[in-house]
Amino acid sequence: MRLRYVPGQYQYLKKCEKVIMYPEKLGYKLNHMFNNNNPIHVEIGCGKGKFLREIAINNPDINYFGFEKDVKVAYRCAKNITEDDPPNYFIVYANAESLKEIFEEGSIERIYLNFSDPWPKASHHKRRLTHKKFLDIYKAVLTDNGEIHMKTDNNDLFEFSIEQLEEDNWELLMVTRDLHNSIYKEGNIMTLYEEKFVKEGKKINKLVAKRKNG
Ligand SMILES: C[S@@+](CC[C@H](N)C(=O)[O-])C[C@H]1O[C@@H](n2cnc3c(N)ncnc32)[C@H](O)[C@@H]1O
Repeated sequence: MRLRYVPGQYQYLKKCEKVIMYPEKLGYKLNHMFNNNNPIHVEIGCGKGKFLREIAINNPDINYFGFEKDVKVAYRCAKNITEDDPPNYFIVYANAESLKEIFEEGSIERIYLNFSDPWPKASHHKRRLTHKKFLDIYKAVLTDNGEIHMKTDNNDLFEFSIEQLEEDNWELLMVTRDLHNSIYKEGNIMTLYEEKFVKEGKKINKLVAKRKNG
C-alpha cells in the first residue's frame, strides 16, 4: 500500500479519539479501554479499516482493536472514521511485535490476519506475521482456546503459514484454498485487498487455527 505523505498526519492521529498511539510506550494495557468484559478481537494490519468497521458493526458485543504500523495507512484509516462508526473499536498505531506489552497475558480471543504482507524473499520470511516468532507472541496473548483467522491471496504465504502452525502444534479448524467458492463464504466480510483480488479473479485462501492448551 504505497501512499503519499500528508503533512500533519501524525498530529491528526494524535488528536483522534478513536486512535491509540504507541500504547507499549505508555505502560498500560488496552484490556480495560471499553469498561466491559466483552471478548477482545484484534486485527493486525487493518489497512484503511474497512473490515474492522464492518465486523465491529455486525458484532456490537465484541471489542475490536485494529493494529496498523504505517503512519500513512493509519492516517487514511482514521480519515475514514464517520460519526456513524460503532463505539466498539479502536485503531492502534503500533507494531504487532509489541502485543505482549499492550495486552494482558491470555486476554485476546481472536486475531485476524487479513492479506498480510507476503515477504516473498526467503531472507525476509521471519517478517511474515505467521512466522514462529509471531506465533509465540500470539500464544502469549491469546486465551486458552484463542484463534487465528487468516486470509490471503498469496499461496506461498498460505502454505508457509500452515507449516509454521502445524510445526508449532496449533489445531487447524478449517482450511480452504478457494474461500469464495466454498461453504465458508457465508458471512465473510471482505477487506479492501480482498475486493481487489476477487475482482481480478484470484482465489482467496483462508484458515482458522486454534491455540492448543499447554
Ligand atoms: C497488504 S496490507 C492489507 C490491508 C488490509 N488488511 C486489507 O486486507 O485490505 C497489510 C497492512 O498490514 C500492515 N502491517 C504489516 N505488518 C504489521 C505489523 N507487524 N503490525 C501492524 N501492522 C502491520 C501494513 O502496514 C499494511 O498496511
